[in-house]
Amino acid sequence: MNGPFRLLLPLSIAIVVVAAIFRATPGAPRRRLRRCVLLFAFYAVAIAAEQLLEFLGPPFSSASMPLHYAAQALEVLLIINLAAIALFDLLFHFARWDYPDIVHELSVGAAYLVAGIWLMHRSGVNLSSIVATSAVVTAVIGLSLQATLGNIVGGLALQLDDSIHEGDWIELENRVQGRVRQIRWRHSVIETRDWDTLIVPNSQLLAQTIKVLGKRDGVTSPHRMWVHFSVDFRYSPGQVVHIVNEALQAAPIANVAPEPKANCIVYDLAKEHRDSFAYYAVRYFLTDLASDDPTSSLVRERIYTALKRAQIPLALPATTVFLSHDDPEHAERKQAREHAFRLAALQNVELFAQLSDEEKGKIADVVRLAPFSAGEVITRQGSPAHWLYVLTKGKAEVRLTGAAGEEKKVAELHAPSFFGEMALMTGAPREATVIASTDVECLRLDKDDFKEILARRPEIAKEMSTVLAQRRVELVAVRDNLDADAKKRKMVTERSKILESIRDFFGLNGTR
Ligand code: CMP
Repeated sequence: MNGPFRLLLPLSIAIVVVAAIFRATPGAPRRRLRRCVLLFAFYAVAIAAEQLLEFLGPPFSSASMPLHYAAQALEVLLIINLAAIALFDLLFHFARWDYPDIVHELSVGAAYLVAGIWLMHRSGVNLSSIVATSAVVTAVIGLSLQATLGNIVGGLALQLDDSIHEGDWIELENRVQGRVRQIRWRHSVIETRDWDTLIVPNSQLLAQTIKVLGKRDGVTSPHRMWVHFSVDFRYSPGQVVHIVNEALQAAPIANVAPEPKANCIVYDLAKEHRDSFAYYAVRYFLTDLASDDPTSSLVRERIYTALKRAQIPLALPATTVFLSHDDPEHAERKQAREHAFRLAALQNVELFAQLSDEEKGKIADVVRLAPFSAGEVITRQGSPAHWLYVLTKGKAEVRLTGAAGEEKKVAELHAPSFFGEMALMTGAPREATVIASTDVECLRLDKDDFKEILARRPEIAKEMSTVLAQRRVELVAVRDNLDADAKKRKMVTERSKILESIRDFFGLNGTR
């Protein structure tokens, strides 16, 4: 055995060992192993062909020389690749040294170059005389390598100056955004949110201004996002900003940073002096750059429901000409429609079951529609109460915060239901926090209107004291861990106590 032939067996064993280790290592770079297997196959074929020609003797044996050199070159390339795998993918990997991919690729590339020169030198090629005498060849090689070298230098520069890292979110000059997946020796791989992959040559990446999203001084921070909307001039900008800020800051929204808080600004008043509405913008800080659109969508939902609750419509496009028939009949028809809708919603609510249709009709006249989006706080424990809520659509959760600040779920309310009655009927602050679990629709009854109903129908107070006592006992049971017996005893005392405080608060004493 001579020449490259003698390494056939050790190299095949090395490949089998690497393959076995890669099999047991999740995420191992099989691409590199495949390259070795391919090189080995060519290497084996070259050796076999060389041996065959020599076996056949003259004149065939004279053609075996090029195959000999080819086998030698393939052997060296294979050794380089296997050595690189042993060093980078086994030694460094198990030593947990997280090196950039480009280090591997450039090391292999440099080793190829040295090996090429060495092989040429060994086979008697005088490189220095070729380079010195053939200026044209040098120029051609130089020119053809120009772009490649630019990319390699670009890749190295990107690694060395620490400006972009794998995993960073970036925006290119053409406004395309994506996450840097890999910086390789010639190009960088960028994955967009649309599941596309951009292959950007490193020299191009380096030649443009790149925005690294959500990073300052190399430290990751949330990225500021803008959501625009418009409201016409019938509503004061101060009022709109206040309402939207309250809705955005009252309860968390998934992937919106709690600090700095999301906030609303008046962005512009009538662009180009032709619009009949003001432009607003909500700025919020996004914590997960992968979900920008879904998060903006949640923010828009919050804005929409907050404005709808406050009976503030979003602006109509400026170019729309809208005519409204402002005759009294039209207004009456509209009012009747809204009244019927509210009355239908009130019919199902147990709280008003004892009232006559006429009385329910009166309530329908004064209640206001109050929608909330999922996650919004409807009443907050400890705050003063102004309204009773009739839940006509969706689900809400009642939560109690204990003395140590821990929060516990007390109950879940399903439409049709009501809440917010405790504080209204006793004058105490809100006893619990009620949060919308889904998008919900409520009818909001003002404290004074509610008081008027109670004054006319004091028996409702009596009926409600049972519900109130039940809910209060449930709250106390969660807070103090009461068992079933203790709850029953508490119910009896609580009911008369509550009835008394309702009568005191509403001045209903004397009506027993
Ligand atoms: P209020 O105290 O005004 O505000 C919070 C509301 O949560 C409270 O009125 C009740 O309407 C409601 N609530 C409190 N405890 C319960 C409970 N155990 N079951 C259902 N609703 C409750």
